[in-house]
Amino acid sequence: MSALLAATGPSAYWYLTRSTGAVALLLLTVALVLGVIDVRRWSSENWPRFVVDSLHRNVSLLALVFLGLHILTAVLDSFAPISLVNAVIPFTGSYRPFWLGLGALSFDLIVTVIVTSLLRRQMGHAIWRSIHWLTYASWPVALLHGLGTGSDVKSTWMLALSIGCLIAVIAAILVRVAAGWPEQLARRGAALGGIAIFTLGLFLWLPSGPLGKEWARRSGTPQTLLGHSSSHASSGSGLLNAASLSSDSSSVRSPETSSSSAANSSSDFNSSGATGASQ
Ligand code: HEM
Repeated sequence: MSALLAATGPSAYWYLTRSTGAVALLLLTVALVLGVIDVRRWSSENWPRFVVDSLHRNVSLLALVFLGLHILTAVLDSFAPISLVNAVIPFTGSYRPFWLGLGALSFDLIVTVIVTSLLRRQMGHAIWRSIHWLTYASWPVALLHGLGTGSDVKSTWMLALSIGCLIAVIAAILVRVAAGWPEQLARRGAALGGIAIFTLGLFLWLPSGPLGKEWARRSGTPQTLLGHSSSHASSGSGLLNAASLSSDSSSVRSPETSSSSAANSSSDFNSSGATGASQ
């Protein structure tokens, strides 16, 4: 498998990193929503409790599998200097350190939540439950990582996926807040305030952040990779070509290598052949 991917060029890893990242985000969202449904004890004849319960567990495990593939392909993609250490110890890398670090942080939180859930019987319910709350922290961190690191942030499908997942998570938390802790107003206020601040901050940041100009440079792509842009454009795999270079000279890797992308200069993406960095 590895040899096959290597033979087809680094871009195969890059495509896999992007697709597995998107699927992992979707699965984490579904797992979180199912967790809330589970805790609310919602069930019907067609959806008995044990089905919701096992779906929640299996979707979480599937998310972990996709995260493993996401990390493996990101590390194997020789273009960006990302090591396994960078993937598990947050903020240690040289490639978009902050935004990649958020991915590592989220991954650590998710692994902690899943491992402690598998060992639930061995630990007290109270300890397991307080650790399980980390899920609510891991999700927004993962979303910010995807938006800050990913090449597809300007694509309609990626924005739709991210916003769709955000809406689902907000709805789940609202249901959780509405139904839980009736006597704990402070906790409910903190949850609602957290949602409001995060969502407002996200929509204020996006236009000047990853949707703005020169995000690749501003997000911490190493200078050597930014310089790759023009040299790779002409020697690329044919998937990309120099014509698709846009006015944003710091955008290094284009998600779409087709002529439609080249024609779509408003996308602000640059290309560097099959081995360019994100955006
Ligand atoms: C909970 C953990 C994580 C989630 C949910 C996640 C999800 C995502 C998503 C949705 C994207 C955007 C993909 C796109 O734009 O098409 C992305 C990009 C990326 N992620 Fe993660 N990720 C996680 C952790 C990590 C970790 C630990 C690493 C470290 C190796 C990593 C490496 C990358 C890289 C290199 C990209 C950029 C790919 C590109 O060039 O477009 N991610 N991730």
